[in-house]
Amino acid sequence: MTRAAILAGLFDDLADSYDHDHHERIADALLARAWPGAYDAVADVACGAGAVALRLARARPDSAPPVLAVDISPRMIEAGRGRAVGGAVDWRVADAVPLPVPDGSLDAVFCASSLHFLGCRALADWRRVLRPGGRVAYSLPLAGHFRPSSRFAALLAADVPLPAGPEDAVDWAVGHGFTDVTAQVAVLGDRRVAVTAARLPEHP
Ligand SMILES: C[S@@+](CC[C@H](N)C(=O)[O-])C[C@H]1O[C@@H](n2cnc3c(N)ncnc32)[C@H](O)[C@@H]1O
Repeated sequence: MTRAAILAGLFDDLADSYDHDHHERIADALLARAWPGAYDAVADVACGAGAVALRLARARPDSAPPVLAVDISPRMIEAGRGRAVGGAVDWRVADAVPLPVPDGSLDAVFCASSLHFLGCRALADWRRVLRPGGRVAYSLPLAGHFRPSSRFAALLAADVPLPAGPEDAVDWAVGHGFTDVTAQVAVLGDRRVAVTAARLPEHP
């Protein structure tokens, strides 16, 4: 069984007891740093039950393009569909890397609490799909504040180091080709999350 299939199964099992409150707060933190234009082409990568996608879709005009929301877990997508009230979301069950869109076609990419499962291949794909100057916002657990179960720990991407603080998060994003990088630590109860926002350079 592939790593992606194992992750899909683990998140399928979690879908009914998912901690929506925590993930809504992370979605708010990402969107506060990179709220896109009303008609921007946007993706929620490894969207789970769509915390980011649903917030955005509800706030957009009816004539805006749907928010693309991709996740490998059918039951997480089903949970997202069940929570949708108004707004258009284009739900897809698939590996989120590569995103099913042409090069340079997105204005913004969001990835909440998932990059540490996807690995650096996701960053390369975001550089592919974003237009020059396009925005990205993602979160990672802060090093030392993440205690995954052994099943999840075994599935973490080896090439995504968890940041020790905002400086680490900024350096890492710059090292992967992004610019205008800002990072903050969000304190959510007893959890700490590094929230990074950045842009693809206008002139690569
Ligand atoms: C901790 S959850 C976060 C979900 C959502 N972004 C949120 O904020 O609630 C991690 C998500 O990553 C998804 N995932 C893991 N690997 C994936 C992959 N290769 N492609 C798409 N989704 C993936 C899981 O199915 C799960 O829904």
